Amino acid sequence: HEPAPKVTVIGTGYLGATHAVCMAIMGFDVLGVDVDQRKIDLLSSGRVPFFEPGLPEKLEEALASGRLRFSTDFDEAAAFGDVHFVCVGTPQAADSSAADLTYVDAAFTALATRIDRKALLVGKSTVPIGTAARITAMVQSVSPLGEELELAWNPEFLREGFAVQDTLFPDRLVFGVSSPWAEQQLRRVFAPILDLDTPAIVADLATSELVKVAANSFLATKISFINAMAEVCEATGADVNHLAKALSLDDRIGGRFLKPGLGFGGGCLPKDIRAFKYRAEELGVGQAVSFLGEVDSINNRRRVRTVDLIRELAGGDLAGVRVAALGAAFKPNSDDVRDAPALDVARLLYLEGAIVSVYDPEANANAHRAYPDLNYVESMAEAVEQADVVALLTEWAEFRNADPDTLGALVNHRRILDGRHALNANDYTSKGWQYRALGRPAQAATVELASDLRDETPTLAV
Ligand code: UDX
Repeated sequence: HEPAPKVTVIGTGYLGATHAVCMAIMGFDVLGVDVDQRKIDLLSSGRVPFFEPGLPEKLEEALASGRLRFSTDFDEAAAFGDVHFVCVGTPQAADSSAADLTYVDAAFTALATRIDRKALLVGKSTVPIGTAARITAMVQSVSPLGEELELAWNPEFLREGFAVQDTLFPDRLVFGVSSPWAEQQLRRVFAPILDLDTPAIVADLATSELVKVAANSFLATKISFINAMAEVCEATGADVNHLAKALSLDDRIGGRFLKPGLGFGGGCLPKDIRAFKYRAEELGVGQAVSFLGEVDSINNRRRVRTVDLIRELAGGDLAGVRVAALGAAFKPNSDDVRDAPALDVARLLYLEGAIVSVYDPEANANAHRAYPDLNYVESMAEAVEQADVVALLTEWAEFRNADPDTLGALVNHRRILDGRHALNANDYTSKGWQYRALGRPAQAATVELASDLRDETPTLAV
């Protein structure tokens, strides 16, 4: 009976920190590694450097078990691990829509030059197809072990806000491998999840890279599809909420990711579809995914259209108009403002001369760092105080559950733009509010139907 493999996790961002904590919770000895001393210090002292519901409790539990440590030392990582997970970021490059692989290459090189016994390197980062093959050659050429050092790819599908649950109870595992030994190692480190009858797809490296970008492309396409229909609705007086509901009841279509509104953002979907399109063009199959350019355009038009509706509500001109921007994060239960539609709308309003007050329950600090020019306030009440228009841009529960009369007592004019189809229009119009939402007629229908299309999986007891 072989001892359980020791696990290192390189990169302690949303993905790596969660993975390291969950691996320790599952019973493995884990070393989390990052080049950022600040992150390592925070995590070592039990603090999560970003907002992720449930993760602080799990970090505390993992640290208390004695199975989880953090370090900035790659020598220690190389000596410690049997299986090394690389979870560093692949942001969009500064000068193109390609993925920037600097951090991935650096992490694999740092490990490969130091590892001196048989070990498995596992990439989890989202990368262009062909990266794993290239990195295999690269690590084997710099490693003292040569071809003994093997590489696998294990894409990660976790959603921010559900990171712990998605990591402990994933829908499926994908193992991209080049040898039976690599598959066997992955089966050992994922044994607790496989024991739950979680399906595992064992494939080659390229397929496993492709699964991730294909899944994100499908999800982005689904969102942009319903948002494209919202544009048609606006031209015809139809209501996209009723449309989405009716479509969702065909279980071949399904309701998840069919929620219309301000569109997708975040650190994954936007950059992943752009990098995929870029890579497909390099591979000579650009035509096969040229529609992803449309998916991106539809998504970006939602932001412009939201500003149009706010301008209409304000009477045709935004200069000097006071707008309460409720939300900055790319979605609720996150402090992430990367490519956030909400923050983009606030910025566009500001550029047109509106006086914008931004409030997000968790993302103010990150938003301030991204756009220091905007005015950030500490509460919803402060944001809506004397507002000419209220714009709900991220559907936090605090905004969904707000009382229209309480809000109404604070504002200058009872006008609300519901950028996320998060409110019951009736609740507002019956209290004298002018209510507008993307893809719905100005006189919004009386029946609310699409609120159940929100991506709200009940949280499991984890
Ligand atoms: C996504 C994928 O879901 C996940 O599998 C992958 O690993 C990383 O990228 P995440 O970025 O955390 O996860 O966010 P997600 O919950 O997918 O939401 C993405 C964006 O789409 C958000 O801005 C959200 O507001 C928007 N969205 C989602 C819609 O506009 N409508 C919907 O119906 C669903």
